[in-house]
Amino acid sequence: MHNNNKITTDLALAVRQLKNGELVAFATETVYGLGADASNPEAIKKVFAAKGRPVDHPLIVHIAAIDQLSQWAREIPAKALTLAQHFWPGPLTMIFAKQPWVSELITGSQDTIAIRMPRHPLALKLLQEFGGALVGPSANKYGRVSPTTATHVAADLGDLVAAILDGGSCEVGIESTIVDFSNSQPRILRHGAITAADISKALQQEVLFHSDPKIRTPGNVNSHYAPRTKVKLVPAAELLQEISQQQEFSVISFQTPPVNLSAKIYWQQVSVDPQEYAHNLYANLRQHDQLQNSLIIIEQPPHGDGWLAINDRLCRASQ
Ligand code: TXA
Ligand code: MG
Repeated sequence: MHNNNKITTDLALAVRQLKNGELVAFATETVYGLGADASNPEAIKKVFAAKGRPVDHPLIVHIAAIDQLSQWAREIPAKALTLAQHFWPGPLTMIFAKQPWVSELITGSQDTIAIRMPRHPLALKLLQEFGGALVGPSANKYGRVSPTTATHVAADLGDLVAAILDGGSCEVGIESTIVDFSNSQPRILRHGAITAADISKALQQEVLFHSDPKIRTPGNVNSHYAPRTKVKLVPAAELLQEISQQQEFSVISFQTPPVNLSAKIYWQQVSVDPQEYAHNLYANLRQHDQLQNSLIIIEQPPHGDGWLAINDRLCRASQ
């Protein structure tokens, strides 16, 4: 059931609720975050309870200005500052050695902390008026599709939050790129709209993707970002053969529907532009999920750099 009565644009109300230790979901340019006061352990516990998230799965701390970094990070390498100057505010999260006083609730008992400065004007305003930092995992149930509108949040967590701060439909549409600076060399732990090429160019050195089984990142949870309906990724050349073998399904494809397609089949033709594709991806997955077919068939996107983050999310959605 949708509980839309928590949706608001009242910033002062959102700030009051956060100061009271309540949960407030808020728009960012990537996806909606489930906000709570990062300095209040009781508020942080509510985040894990609402999401149904394992307590060892760490949270991102959201800040309003670069000079807040040193409150949370023990060591800030010069290269991280370079990236902050290039991409903050924006869809980039960086991982640092944490300050000793940072709650283990935030870090999942790891010695590192993830920090991001979002660029959505409402998120920045919320952080500024709140005056502190906010933890902000994606505002969905654990393992499910991230929300990119206030109504998506209401559908998943409407009864569990004090307010949902409505900033419209998220511009980027997929979660931030994560770069780890807690080791001697920076490495990418999650693909996002800011690509490895963007980061390598800013740092004038090659920065690669790295999946480390010892670090608890999304890369180590295979099934993630998933609708309830089974998702199957199919190469373009096999699409027609695949649909001839299936009964109850919907399709997300770059192509126009075949002329002989049954009128009962929902065939959605999507953009060949990766930014537009990403912007619509989660709303599309949610829409197809609501059809309650037994299968969502998705045409495999191309393999270029701009599609890496999308292919990563689609791959996990189809596990
Ligand atoms: O775009 C985003 O990053 C959104 C918006 C709301 O800011 N937030 C988001 O949060 O995607 P969440 O919790 O759904 O995903 C954060 C990921 C988690 O999978 C977590 O494992 C990883 O960041 N992470 C957090 N702290 C970490 C740490 N210390 N070391 C490694 N990975 C970490
Ligand atoms: Mg998430």
